[in-house]
Amino acid sequence: MFEALPPAPTDKILALIELYRADPRPGKLDLGVGVYKDRDGRTPVMRAVREAEKRLLASQETKTYLGLVGDAAFNMAMIRLVFGENADTARIRAAQTPGGSGALRLCAELIKRSRPEATVWVSDPTWANHVPILRDTGLKVREYPYFDADTGTVRFEAMLEALAKAESGDAVLLHGCCHNPTGANLNEAQWTALAGLLADKRLLPFIDIAYQGFGEGLDADAAGLRIVAAKVPEMVAAASCSKNFAVYRDRVGAAMVMGTNGTQADAALGHMLAAARTLYSMPPDHGAAAVRIVLGDPALRADWEAELDETRNRMLSLRVKFAEALRQRSNSDRFDFIASHRGMFSRLGLTEAQVERLRNDHGVYMVGDSRINVAGLPEDRLDDLAKAIVAVLD
Ligand code: LMR
Repeated sequence: MFEALPPAPTDKILALIELYRADPRPGKLDLGVGVYKDRDGRTPVMRAVREAEKRLLASQETKTYLGLVGDAAFNMAMIRLVFGENADTARIRAAQTPGGSGALRLCAELIKRSRPEATVWVSDPTWANHVPILRDTGLKVREYPYFDADTGTVRFEAMLEALAKAESGDAVLLHGCCHNPTGANLNEAQWTALAGLLADKRLLPFIDIAYQGFGEGLDADAAGLRIVAAKVPEMVAAASCSKNFAVYRDRVGAAMVMGTNGTQADAALGHMLAAARTLYSMPPDHGAAAVRIVLGDPALRADWEAELDETRNRMLSLRVKFAEALRQRSNSDRFDFIASHRGMFSRLGLTEAQVERLRNDHGVYMVGDSRINVAGLPEDRLDDLAKAIVAVLD
């Protein structure tokens, strides 16, 4: 029965992992998948997470089911981390999910069940897995303009203009911070204007917050989401702990819904959980339990925040140094935007052919749209990298 299957679509980010692994060249450089790396190219287990895991192993007496919603204390801690300590918890609910992708899928399922004809508007460009998740859920997808490749900035007026034409009841998928793949983000005034439009037009905000703490700080990175939450009656949000707790393979995330009141939020959560039951039933426990222990213990939490600060500051300093190296090598300000972008990614503005030449001639791996993972930049070889990039420009 499988003979009629066409080849399955491949994810361009995950495909790159395989290509990189298969490359025997010793000096090869991985700027592909969004995984944090330290100076030595390692992705360490965070100190506080390791300690929380020790405590978990020492105290865990059973591995019986927790239920569809997962760990209730984890869910509440995530609501406070994302929506803030003063979050209106009477009308916000969360379900623990397998990673941010699981959360995105549950939010999409909720939209599909609430309003099957809804269109979800996504930024042009957006994360490679957004549209597949939405389409597999059966939702219609349209793009709104977002990124100006010439200036490296957000096309905010064009974005508002497009969203003003969306139908009431449509959903708008937004990156809460650290836009993936561009690194170009909305400022506070823009979030405020956008929140007004979403409320006036009765569009459902659908916020993907996968890099909280990687841009400006834990609270600063959630500021846009909180501005929106203060203005609209309902919204959904998908949070990931993959990056900020470095628990990538443990699959830890949360799907959140804010309702007009608690009863409606409960009903919405119920539908997300009904979808979860058929998709994967219950979320894995281990990583979420470790995150719950970290967030609930003041000393561990302080240590986690300190390590997260180091992570962010390293990426910020790499941005500045890399922009400077490119300025020197290209003798232009063409790449200066890298220093002002925030988060794990920036898009260099190279063509697919230039990206391929970098891979073939220089062993430099980046996503085909020229997205780089800033954390993968080699601190001691920035000038060589800048030289290779400038070499493929002509
Ligand atoms: C990325 O964008 O590289 C990460 O979110 C990892 C992934 O699953 O694509």
